[in-house]
Amino acid sequence: MKNEFTYLVPIIILISASRNKEAMRFMKTNKTLLEERDKHVPQGPFNVHPIFAQKAKGAIIVDVEGKEYIDFAGGIGVSNVGHCNENVLEAIQDQIQKYIHTCFHVVMYEPYVELAKRLNAITPGNFPKKTMLANSGAEGVENAVKVARHATGRQAIIAFEDAFHGRTLLALSLTSKMKPYKFGFGPYAPEIYRMPYAYCYRCEFGLEYPSCEIECAYFLKEFFHTHISSEQVAALVVEPVLGEGGFVVPPKEYFKIIHKICQDNGIVLIADEVQTGFGRTAKMFAMEHFEIAPDIMIMAKSMAGGLPLSAVTGKAEMMDHPQVGGLGGTFSGNPVACRAALAVLDEFEKGDLLPKAEQIGRKVHARFKALQEKYFLIGDVRGLGAMVGMELVVDRRTKEPATALTKQVVNLCREKGLLMMSAGTHSNIIRPLMPLTITDQQLEKGLSILEESISEVQRSQNF
Ligand SMILES: Cc1ncc(COP(=O)(O)O)c(C=O)c1O
Repeated sequence: MKNEFTYLVPIIILISASRNKEAMRFMKTNKTLLEERDKHVPQGPFNVHPIFAQKAKGAIIVDVEGKEYIDFAGGIGVSNVGHCNENVLEAIQDQIQKYIHTCFHVVMYEPYVELAKRLNAITPGNFPKKTMLANSGAEGVENAVKVARHATGRQAIIAFEDAFHGRTLLALSLTSKMKPYKFGFGPYAPEIYRMPYAYCYRCEFGLEYPSCEIECAYFLKEFFHTHISSEQVAALVVEPVLGEGGFVVPPKEYFKIIHKICQDNGIVLIADEVQTGFGRTAKMFAMEHFEIAPDIMIMAKSMAGGLPLSAVTGKAEMMDHPQVGGLGGTFSGNPVACRAALAVLDEFEKGDLLPKAEQIGRKVHARFKALQEKYFLIGDVRGLGAMVGMELVVDRRTKEPATALTKQVVNLCREKGLLMMSAGTHSNIIRPLMPLTITDQQLEKGLSILEESISEVQRSQNF
């Protein structure tokens, strides 16, 4: 029997379908946004994935077209406590009701001082410490070097091959990789000297651990004869585990040797914990694994749950050396970012995140090792805590970096719903930086997508 609904329902469906079509016509897609991006933004600020975010929570990012991705990139290691962590959001919301900016140098505020106090307490080293805040990792690096030069009255800085310390001119000069980071941007800051890192898979000394007896660390003594006299060296700047350089973990004795040589020669040891800090390696700071306390430590990335903030924490007498007004900046230590960072510290104090990082690390390491058995493409698997990477090579014997294939793996992962990044001077290292809040199910699914992608790429090569 027909009634009025018999005709009404199809009409409503038709109207709403045409409205949806209309809405779709005006909805910005990844493609339309990319066209706008290309028109208005220069190519220099790089993009790994051609997608635009709509929202993110925990370890999931949803793009503007509603496609969901498991996030193994964490905004390059910034989201250790997860995207839009509830406590971070609460702290931000509370702070923006009060004040957003006064400039610490004009009218001070408590969150800056409170954060400094807490960082002084949790960073390695049983000596009096002080902390200054800045906006980015690179700015933290710049300030750490300024402090070391001022405190020692020396100029030279020793940095490492495959190191990454940022893109501002001094930080860029400390960074190792030429393309795309340094090419065409010279002249670089002077008085920077570079020595090999403890990259065991590609040992510059042609040796093997442990029979090498950590020659790469003792080489620092030789370096003073062949490159720069120790009396001229203000600081040695080093990542405890290479981040952008490809998740390279030095042998456990390495930093004790380097530290001792620095101490014997009055050289400030600066640890760049920008990528390793805040639980990534299953300790709050990676230098804790090596049981040393650097003179100065640089922190950023995951410190403020996604807001821009960096910190330089160091021996009080060094940090106090520069004159009043010698350090700082208009936005340095923004109060909203400080409140977010305090909430991040609270999250770690609850005690679950570091064991979770350990558990993630164990799972990822075991899975990567199992994949290495199956796929020739995987030359090396290495890591510390949840900072586990795999190096892809075209040939295990020659160790020729599989740069193009790594890119294919990353792109395939994205197509299958996993966001991933590569690293390394030859961009041939898969470096997962998933939020530590990731669920077991998301982690498993992400690892399966990665395996499928590696398998497909390897098959396409007829290895
Ligand atoms: C170890 C290390 N230092 C410094 C930086 C620079 O940090 P930012 O990009 O915040 O300037 C990075 C960034 O990836 C890093 O990994």
